[in-house]
Amino acid sequence: MAIRIVRKRGDELLGVRAKEVNRFDHTLVRIIDDMYDTMHHYHGIGLAAPQIGISKRIIVAEVDDVKLALINPAIVEAAGEEVDVEGCLSWPGNFGEVVRKTHIKVRGQTALGDEVEIVAAGLLARCLQHEIDHLNGVLFCDVALRLLDKSERQDLSDE
Ligand code: CO
Repeated sequence: MAIRIVRKRGDELLGVRAKEVNRFDHTLVRIIDDMYDTMHHYHGIGLAAPQIGISKRIIVAEVDDVKLALINPAIVEAAGEEVDVEGCLSWPGNFGEVVRKTHIKVRGQTALGDEVEIVAAGLLARCLQHEIDHLNGVLFCDVALRLLDKSERQDLSDE
């Protein structure tokens, strides 16, 4: 268990496509544990492995009572669109409006390598799309309709 340093916007690793995972061993389990620890420490709802310096296709998310780790995730179905505000642990204090699908089906693998399918809606769907973007070297600011200005950011920080 360890809290890792979160790479920030501008870091080279955040801009490249992460590699497929093909070894489902204790190292993978440890990476996932560290990702959960780091996400909790920084009060995030999701994290992608490149954010802690590991360029592999691993994401974790925790939204309401759903906590999950997905390896090699791919969106296989998507419907609906919604604009909402997003932030990222790799660009603290900044927020932007991003269009995301409201309903998605994601196929991936568990930490043991078993195939799994996740059906998600709303905030969890948004979170998974944001984290999968990270695996493709995309940050929310790359796809945002617009970034919030200083006064809008202030309002969010006060909440
Ligand atoms: Co992020």
